[in-house]
Amino acid sequence: MRAHDRPQTRRAPLRVAVMGTGAISKEHLTYLAGRSPVIPDRGLVELVGVCDQSPAAAHYAADTFGAGRAFTDLADMLESASPEVVHVLTPPASHVGLATQCLQAGAHVVCEKPITTNSPDLDKLLEIAADHGRQLMESHNYRFNHGFRQLENLLNSDRLGPVRSVDIRIALPVTDADERFGDPNLPSPIHQLPAGVIHDFTTHFSYLLLRLTGDVVFDRMATAWSNHAGLAHFRYDDLDALLIGNSDRGPIHARLRFEADSGPDTFAITVRGTEGWAEIDLFQPYLRAVLPRPVGSQLSPVANHVINGWQLMGHGIRNLSRKIMQITPYEGLHRMLDETYQALTEDRPVPVTPAEMLAASRLVDTVVSDQFRF
Ligand SMILES: NC(=O)c1ccc[n+]([C@@H]2O[C@H](COP(=O)([O-])OP(=O)(O)OC[C@H]3O[C@@H](n4cnc5c(N)ncnc54)[C@H](O)[C@@H]3O)[C@@H](O)[C@H]2O)c1
Repeated sequence: MRAHDRPQTRRAPLRVAVMGTGAISKEHLTYLAGRSPVIPDRGLVELVGVCDQSPAAAHYAADTFGAGRAFTDLADMLESASPEVVHVLTPPASHVGLATQCLQAGAHVVCEKPITTNSPDLDKLLEIAADHGRQLMESHNYRFNHGFRQLENLLNSDRLGPVRSVDIRIALPVTDADERFGDPNLPSPIHQLPAGVIHDFTTHFSYLLLRLTGDVVFDRMATAWSNHAGLAHFRYDDLDALLIGNSDRGPIHARLRFEADSGPDTFAITVRGTEGWAEIDLFQPYLRAVLPRPVGSQLSPVANHVINGWQLMGHGIRNLSRKIMQITPYEGLHRMLDETYQALTEDRPVPVTPAEMLAASRLVDTVVSDQFRF
């Protein structure tokens, strides 16, 4: 019997705690408190505690999201609240130590990306999880976004033909002084990652690219890391990476771009196959597919324009209603957590597998390594 065919095991809600109550915790806590604008409250979890080194941050989160108690020490929270699952949402350098502590205390761990700063550390952490019979999952949230799933469905239908190229482009004004990474007076710990702020986005690039290209091995790569604005607290503010590999259906080119000085905010993915191409934007969701249409090759371009125009208008209206409903690009994170808790409740593997985490982490290692820079 396949895992998703198994009957649901009825049980009490899982006891869940949150470690780190900074910016991203709002999304996790909204879901855990049963207040997600995208997912109905299924009663799968009970929020039993939040912990932060800042007592003010911990108390604020506990009050806002109705967490049982606020802690400033993880060991204390693990002992007093005995969570079955802990979300580790602190800066990357602290993940290994904190996740290890949780796993050793017998809790499953959901950890923000990048779960570790290199893949050998992830290997070790996965071993610790296996030794303790617990599940460990890195947040690969954007692959759960509705638009990305639409793109995957289109690919799986084979209407684009075998994939030949994938472009992923993130444009975010991270250097602006009033943005969280740009503030020179209170620099984020993210700047300490080996490739600085852009390193923080490479996990997203990697798991999304691997979902779209399957088990292709990228054996040629060139990366250009730049600091165009020249800000002293930034290592880089721009990445241009070209990756070339072979799949069993032919060669695949990929391009990963991070830009700090082009607008508007964008998270665009374009996939080109032998028969057609499609693009999405996860920040302003839409899907545009240019395909052979059943009107023949002469009229297909016209049909594509008409169909694309009509569908874009629909996406515009849906985006307006998303804004009114306060649905953000983190909708995928809520869906990811919901699928995770359904799996944990039924004693099934969580939706982001150790193999997927390792593959993404190894790709990050190569993208940030000195070896391929020009
Ligand atoms: N998946 C996504 O799309 C996404 C988006 C934003 C951030 N993130 C990731 O989430 C993580 C946290 O990012 P953030 O933006 O919330 O950071 P943040 O700086 O806003 O919050 C981090 C919190 O952790 C606390 N903290 C730090 N070290 C601690 C420790 N040792 N013990 C207890 N508390 C500690 C800090 O006091 C702070 O409240 C990072 O790994 C980041 O890359 C992921």
